[in-house]
Amino acid sequence: MNEEKYIELEKKVFEDFTRKHPKSKQLFEKAAKTAPGGVAGAGGAMRPFPIYFTHGMGNRLYDIDEIEYIDGQLGSGVNLLGHCYPEIQEAIKREMDRGLWLPNPVFVDECNELLAECIPCAEAARYRNTGTEVCSAATMAARAYTGKNKIIKFYGAYHGVDPEFLVGWGAHTTELVSAGVPKEMLANTVLLMPDVDEVRKKLDEDNDIAGVITDVIQGVGGILPFSRAELMELRKLTKERGVILIFDEVLTGFRLALGGSQEYFGVTPDIAVVAKATGGGEKFAAIVGSKELLTVFNPPVTKGSMFGGGAKAVFQSGTMNNGTTGVAGAIACMKALKKKREEGEYDKLNQRMARYAAGIEDAFRTNGIGCHVNYVGSYYKIHLTDEEATYDVICKADQRLRYLFTVALMNENLLICMPASGSCFINFAFTDEDIDKMLTAFNTTLDKYNWTDVYHS
Ligand SMILES: Cc1ncc(COP(=O)(O)O)c(C=O)c1O
Repeated sequence: MNEEKYIELEKKVFEDFTRKHPKSKQLFEKAAKTAPGGVAGAGGAMRPFPIYFTHGMGNRLYDIDEIEYIDGQLGSGVNLLGHCYPEIQEAIKREMDRGLWLPNPVFVDECNELLAECIPCAEAARYRNTGTEVCSAATMAARAYTGKNKIIKFYGAYHGVDPEFLVGWGAHTTELVSAGVPKEMLANTVLLMPDVDEVRKKLDEDNDIAGVITDVIQGVGGILPFSRAELMELRKLTKERGVILIFDEVLTGFRLALGGSQEYFGVTPDIAVVAKATGGGEKFAAIVGSKELLTVFNPPVTKGSMFGGGAKAVFQSGTMNNGTTGVAGAIACMKALKKKREEGEYDKLNQRMARYAAGIEDAFRTNGIGCHVNYVGSYYKIHLTDEEATYDVICKADQRLRYLFTVALMNENLLICMPASGSCFINFAFTDEDIDKMLTAFNTTLDKYNWTDVYHS
């Protein structure tokens, strides 16, 4: 890509963006004085400046400049039912009047029964608030149960910000993704390509592997799912070797199907973790698995203290695990999602995604721009490349044009993702008409600026 041509295009898109969002610009300048990047977390930062939102409803978002957007960012996958879903709102409001934190709230049982009904491997559950925390708890459980130390993690998979997983997302290297983490913290992380033969080879030569963690789809690497046959092979292999298979369903849980990727691919792991869509927007995450395995979280209180349950006991705790609105949000959300499945809505959602993905590829290719939309269920990523979008191709690709395109779409009132993440979604609130509107926004954006010339320069 020619540098000068790219910079000229970026200037035009950013000028239009700045003209359209004067209040966001003003707020950014103020916020950046106290918050690095003017935002609360890396996910919200963007160039030329972030848009600040005031509220959301269904699949629409509203910003401080009073612009309405179609929301395809959907809280990085949280919003599967849409903003302000009535049953979830009601449940949360009810609990707010009863107290936000109670020791052992009465509805733990109901929540666990729903988790068990929906998720194939969920005989028992423990809660936390975020995906990071449950991924970490899952690996502790695997280590405690097997008495071994190492965890296999695949290239292209993100498992939150626990230091041992800060490696192998967007590049084919063993370099840490983040500063501030001593390299030694990766001593027990075994990084492999998502290839069952590689796992077998590793298990043959190393007797200290406690578990394999996989998000099943290599989401952060560009959405490169395992096939069902590969997953079945991985399941067989780990079972034979006594290695714990962990599905990180923080993103796929309840999204690909009611039972997440376990149901979608028909393969049941030993442990799974869910978060994001499970709480319907509230802070809820769970580690689920077989009863036997999850007993590692139940140390005998022999000396009057919850600490020191013995060699096999995992200390799994968190002040906010019991947050009543989080658990109530999850119960209401799971009930609503069960109904969606009964009504055949999951099939319709996934079919809508297929039509939308084909429409996006068609729009770019008609303009002479190579495009591959990698998707699974209602989660997708756009890759602007003539080649097949493999992990290595994606790692090497210059992402600036895709980034800029998503900013330009915001000028057409469509937010498909935070540009740096590139994770895009649709949800149950989307209609066929919304899909048409989004494809119109893609075509308008392609007509408005000279992308083709820059892509081929
Ligand atoms: C597959 C996966 N695992 C773990 C996480 C971490 O979750 P959280 O951001 O809630 O800590 C994410 C977040 O995007 C994720 O997509």
